Amino acid sequence: MNAVSPAPVADSTASTAVALQNTLLTPRFYTTDFPAMDRLDVSGVRGEWDALIADLRADNNRGHFIRDARFDSFDASKLTPELRAELLEFLISSVTAEFSGCVLYAEIKKRIKNKDVHDLFAFMARDEARHAGFINDTLKDFGVGVDLGFLTRAKKYTFFKPKFIFYATYLSEKIGYARYITIFRHLQRNPQNMIHPIFNWFENWCNDEFRHGEAFALLMRADPKILSGVNKLWIRFFVLAVFATMYVRDHARPVFHAALGIDPTEYDRRVLALTSLISQQVFPLALDLDHPRMVRGFDRLFALTTAMGAARARGGLGGGLAMLGLRARAAVTFLGMYLVPVKANTLPASARLEPVW
Ligand SMILES: [Fe+2]
Ligand SMILES: [Fe+2]
Repeated sequence: MNAVSPAPVADSTASTAVALQNTLLTPRFYTTDFPAMDRLDVSGVRGEWDALIADLRADNNRGHFIRDARFDSFDASKLTPELRAELLEFLISSVTAEFSGCVLYAEIKKRIKNKDVHDLFAFMARDEARHAGFINDTLKDFGVGVDLGFLTRAKKYTFFKPKFIFYATYLSEKIGYARYITIFRHLQRNPQNMIHPIFNWFENWCNDEFRHGEAFALLMRADPKILSGVNKLWIRFFVLAVFATMYVRDHARPVFHAALGIDPTEYDRRVLALTSLISQQVFPLALDLDHPRMVRGFDRLFALTTAMGAARARGGLGGGLAMLGLRARAAVTFLGMYLVPVKANTLPASARLEPVW
């Protein structure tokens, strides 16, 4: 696992450079097998599918992503330099993730003819473009912005077969929902911790992500092979990788979380438990998040990642050797967590859920 790189962001070139980074912890860009996407058949979940598409077509969030006076009255100079840096890093990581979804969904939409899948990806690309644009406008308030056009051309794309796209994007949509709603509910109870107006938008925003997650749940339920046999091992891997990444990334932003009045460990446990609960709509298994080896493992991965950052900064042969040792220890820790017995889950008759949290 690579280290988080909290490069100071002074301008748009620096912020675009941060968004360009490809480490295990930074959001990636994906490409996939488009002919296989074209062959997807949702007839097995037709009723639920059509209801979801109708919901997306209705576009209830059409008027939501519009800035109001709260942005004008926000005074960035009141932030300490440390808080400003971590808030910016949070926003850049978020805009990269939103834009990564946008690029992938728009590309799928463009490359396939299957009407069901085409419609879905067109609606989701529309939503993600809005989300990315909204965050980028916020970044501009800080005098920085991520050059999204440049990013589309310059960032490395990772190829994933459709089933891996489904596992990864399903999880990132649902964990995105769980994160945003948890922060929003916390700030509803603690308005004095509203450090930036953008958090006021998170409630309706996360309902978009929830719907996107529903779509991937249906795509997987439409093809039960994706959820059985050896694929269970892959699901287990993706869940753990996504959960561990979030844990490490969040713990690398102590000042940001302190300003929100959020304890990252408590927050992550809550978000992971909620994502795990939601994922029972589609995954035949759930990780045992309360298992002592799992709990210790998350903390150890964060400690090792921090040490990797220090080793990289030290550089030279000593730093390089330290890095190898730390990488090996992180791999062993991850494997130990992977081997914690999982809980079997019987899928409900209907996959659909409502965002009631
Ligand atoms: Fe989004
Ligand atoms: Fe989304």
